Amino acid sequence: MREAGRVVARTLDLLAGALAPGLPTKELDRLARSEIKALGARPSFLGYLGYPAVICVSVNDEIVHGIPGDRVVKEGDLVSIDAGAVVDGFHGDAAVTLIVGETTPERRALVDATRKSLELGIEAARPGNRVGDVSAAIEGYIEQLGYGLVREYVGHGIGRKLHEPPQVPNYGPAGQGPVLRVGMTIAIEPMVNLGDWKTRTLDDEWTVVTLDGSPSAHFEHTVAITAGGPEVLTVP
Ligand code: MF3
Ligand code: CO
Repeated sequence: MREAGRVVARTLDLLAGALAPGLPTKELDRLARSEIKALGARPSFLGYLGYPAVICVSVNDEIVHGIPGDRVVKEGDLVSIDAGAVVDGFHGDAAVTLIVGETTPERRALVDATRKSLELGIEAARPGNRVGDVSAAIEGYIEQLGYGLVREYVGHGIGRKLHEPPQVPNYGPAGQGPVLRVGMTIAIEPMVNLGDWKTRTLDDEWTVVTLDGSPSAHFEHTVAITAGGPEVLTVP
């Protein structure tokens, strides 16, 4: 799983370096496809429940599961990229929200807060803690900032499959849910909206957008629960 995580992280780094105004999102998908292959891995999203691309690219009010295409990114856009890879049957899954050039302070703060909430969730992913401790760490930080914390989509266990039990919600009380034990691997993935938390899905049946049209950010890491604490696997 460390190897799969490494492939995902290196792919996201490559895409971050390539992102620039004028780039069509399908170009990011093409780059990801060749990089994952070059690193000896297989893309896990392609064909998953019929998903038609290697990565998800979700721009501005798109929260998750945006399908790469002809849309061209522009200065100030928030571009969330979610990538998954399999190596020797084990999965890695991670996401980042990137800013194209400069954006408004309001949007920048949203991205920083979402990244920070993931860090706090990871910090709570320790053996003996419960899933709810991860959830509460994220919710406690985001709610006091007044953002909309997405509730309809959650983090998940990950391993030989992309999605395994347990679900890892980004909200809910501490001290509840399954106990985290050494050897478990989970994907923690807060999705945070500048406005309301409510979502809807576009006619393509994949792209999830904010109901109020406000911009959204998403960060995700695959994390192993070790005796020494959380180990982030999706690092280069
Ligand atoms: N990374 C997404 C998740 O964490 C999975 C995307 S599935 C796909 O749940 F089918 F959209 F690719
Ligand atoms: Co995931």
